[in-house]
Amino acid sequence: ADNTKTILRGRLLSFHRAPDHLEDTQAYQYETDGALLIEKGRILKRGRFSDVAALAPDAPIQDHRPHLILPGLIDTHIHFPQVQVIASWADQLLDWLNDYTFPAEQKFEDKAHGTRIAKGFYDALTAHGTTTAVAYCSSHPNSVDAYFEEAARRNMLMLGGKTMMDRNAPDALCDTAQSSYDDSKALIGKWHGTGRAYYVITPRFAITSTPAQLEAAGALLREHPQCHLQTHINENHNEIAFTKELYPDADDYLGVYESFGLLGKKTLLGHCIHMNDRELAVMKETGSVAVFCPTSNLFLGSGLYDKARLETHGVRTAIATDVGGGTSYSLLRTLDEGYKILQLQRQRMHPLTSFYWATRGNAEALGLEDRIGTLEEGTDADVIVLDAAATPEMALRMETAQSLAEELFLLQTLGDDRAIKQTYVSGVPQKRAG
Ligand code: GUN
Ligand code: ZN
Repeated sequence: ADNTKTILRGRLLSFHRAPDHLEDTQAYQYETDGALLIEKGRILKRGRFSDVAALAPDAPIQDHRPHLILPGLIDTHIHFPQVQVIASWADQLLDWLNDYTFPAEQKFEDKAHGTRIAKGFYDALTAHGTTTAVAYCSSHPNSVDAYFEEAARRNMLMLGGKTMMDRNAPDALCDTAQSSYDDSKALIGKWHGTGRAYYVITPRFAITSTPAQLEAAGALLREHPQCHLQTHINENHNEIAFTKELYPDADDYLGVYESFGLLGKKTLLGHCIHMNDRELAVMKETGSVAVFCPTSNLFLGSGLYDKARLETHGVRTAIATDVGGGTSYSLLRTLDEGYKILQLQRQRMHPLTSFYWATRGNAEALGLEDRIGTLEEGTDADVIVLDAAATPEMALRMETAQSLAEELFLLQTLGDDRAIKQTYVSGVPQKRAG
């Protein structure tokens, strides 16, 4: 046998663009008896099983029939130091931060704590079919090292960075404008482009940053335009009111970030729930991304993300779990809750759109669609196997599913980590067989 190669056999589904209507079969490629030929962590060939098998007759075959094979799911907003914050009984955002989140994040000064939590964090991601995530680490450089070291051990493409925060939080979590600049800069040098790591400049949000610190974040972005930047915006009414007090001269919340040069195509803005028209126009103009965090928005009672309004204004979008404000590591659970938030606003998301969003759509939001988010030849072999009959009740419902779209909707509505039969990272299976 040729053990340098692997063939995955199953039903292949991959998108080449966003579906724009219900039966937009041109938006994706669906191969009912398909296969991927994987070598050195890359997808070498994709096609019909018979064609692919003929190219590598000695390669071992992983037969995943009758399951679906999709690109690995991408989580565009998650908090690594909130593994022990998820499921905390709190009131709204600011109370939740003060009562649960800030205390938990303080523990990440200890490298050993970060290393232990990182193992559980990555186990959770891959169990739920997530192969790439964009994370906030804590304000301690140690947490960034723990985060990227464990990702490197698993060969995962991960994005993340040190949270910059210099006020309105416990002293043990606060850095300074200067130290946050210096630490971020050193971490960019250490991690950005090391293996599959991407550094993200990470000012937490306007409330926990002085103007001097946002200035430092802007300087970092100008000096390192290859890096992404992430922060939070317009999540909660009390948060917005406090921000207005702290930055009385800004046009609005987005105006704060705008004035420090933090916006652009690589900028990811978590939540974007309570946006005014001016903010939407600036989002569009700068190409910044509005990240939808459904389970978090429901859990913290933050509000309803208006996808149709954002898209009408030409704003780029992404979807994410936002664990620990979010309540599930699963992008399937996240799509389901997102569907319900949109349904409440009479915006019914089609299942093809959902699965596009969690794969190629999120990859496009990150500008990484040439590496991840599809099953295209030459891209990284981050791939999942989905079983729409994973539980007895799913199997009964699956008996009556008439189409691919129905199967996807069932996976979204009833699915969780049990529906993820296998997760391949750089071509290597992460789950135990069986
Ligand atoms: N705003 C500032 N920090 C956070 C955080 O950790 N989670 C959420 N959901 N919103 C935030
Ligand atoms: Zn968040």
